[in-house]
Amino acid sequence: MNVKKIREDFPLLLANPDLTYLDSAATSQKPACVLRAEREFYECHNANPLRGLYELSENATKCYEDARKTVQHFIGAARPEEIIFTRNATESLNLVAYSLGSLLLKPGDEVVVSIMEHHSNLLPWQMVCRQTGATLKFLECDQTGFLSDETLENAITDKTRLVAIAQVSNVLGRTAPIEKIVKLARKHGAVVVMDAAQSAPHMPINVKDLEVDFMAFSGHKLMGPMGIGVLYGKKELLEEMPPFLTGGEMIDSVSRTGAVFAPLPHKFEAGTVNAAGAWGLKAAIEYLQQIGFDEIKRREEALTSRALEGLKEIPHVHVLGSEKAEEHCGILTFTIDGVHPHDVSAILDADGIAVRAGHHCAQPLMEYLGVSTTTRASLFFYNTEEEIDAFVESMKTVRRRMGYGE
Ligand code: ALA
Repeated sequence: MNVKKIREDFPLLLANPDLTYLDSAATSQKPACVLRAEREFYECHNANPLRGLYELSENATKCYEDARKTVQHFIGAARPEEIIFTRNATESLNLVAYSLGSLLLKPGDEVVVSIMEHHSNLLPWQMVCRQTGATLKFLECDQTGFLSDETLENAITDKTRLVAIAQVSNVLGRTAPIEKIVKLARKHGAVVVMDAAQSAPHMPINVKDLEVDFMAFSGHKLMGPMGIGVLYGKKELLEEMPPFLTGGEMIDSVSRTGAVFAPLPHKFEAGTVNAAGAWGLKAAIEYLQQIGFDEIKRREEALTSRALEGLKEIPHVHVLGSEKAEEHCGILTFTIDGVHPHDVSAILDADGIAVRAGHHCAQPLMEYLGVSTTTRASLFFYNTEEEIDAFVESMKTVRRRMGYGE
């Protein structure tokens, strides 16, 4: 991979040569082809999709449905109608929780999540458990984010109706043993919902091979625009589920007292859809596929390893999670003795380095690990060795700049 050439695809990186962007787990930078696609939609195809009976609207519908097929093939779904466009992974997860939760759960049932969940894959389940009388149970990992067979076997039982789990933790970067979880869930008749927000940009995912029932991800973390997300669901489950939002274009017919809902996927896509976002997401997926996940993984692991080695040498810096670079998915979350993460972030920012500081929308994990807040550097294949070195050099100065002797 010629990184210099790759970076030429990213207008924001080109325009900011002094910026070291290490916050791709929050949102990735966008290649020009994605920006062009969004603009192209509005300049050449803009009309309200799925409604108009004139050529322009039919073109807009075609763009939208073509994007759906691109997503379908990207994740190996059997049918395009198993792809629901949403605003983001958060909305996708809320959709499943509210729509399936009310159908599936009753008092005494259990929903299993991991202690590593992002709030987006936790709060909807807390809410639906409160509403239905079901109980929320936690899979507890070790300090590195590892979930043992014993943990899984103890938590997933005949009482489990649903397991909701992130494929990759947004704090530790650790990949969950999804195959084992699916196998156990099947044995006990439970549904599996996979939050792929942090995994989909970095690894190939095939929902048929993984056999998950639902999967959610956001477009903006995989180089697509903000405001477009995906929910994959197995057709037979989606068909049984009631709509999440109701309104325009999600119906076949409406009377004074009721409605017949549209078939999949439109039953779950109320109101004017984000067709330009979907068209941009299609361009992002094609861009990623052209680079290839093998290359992305190779590069990200090399960069992560370089950063880990560098951080290890700095006294008072503690990296959370595994010691192995390949178990971080490009995410390095850390603490520095005596320095608040907001100060770490401000100091790095003064050196042109963008990282995220705080609880990363994973407060139960922070509490479990015994830290209140942390700093997170997250990289993508467009980062360079020089940027990693600059980050490590800046990190070496943090405590001194906060007034400590070393
Ligand atoms: N969910 C994103 C993150 O983890 C915003 O930073």
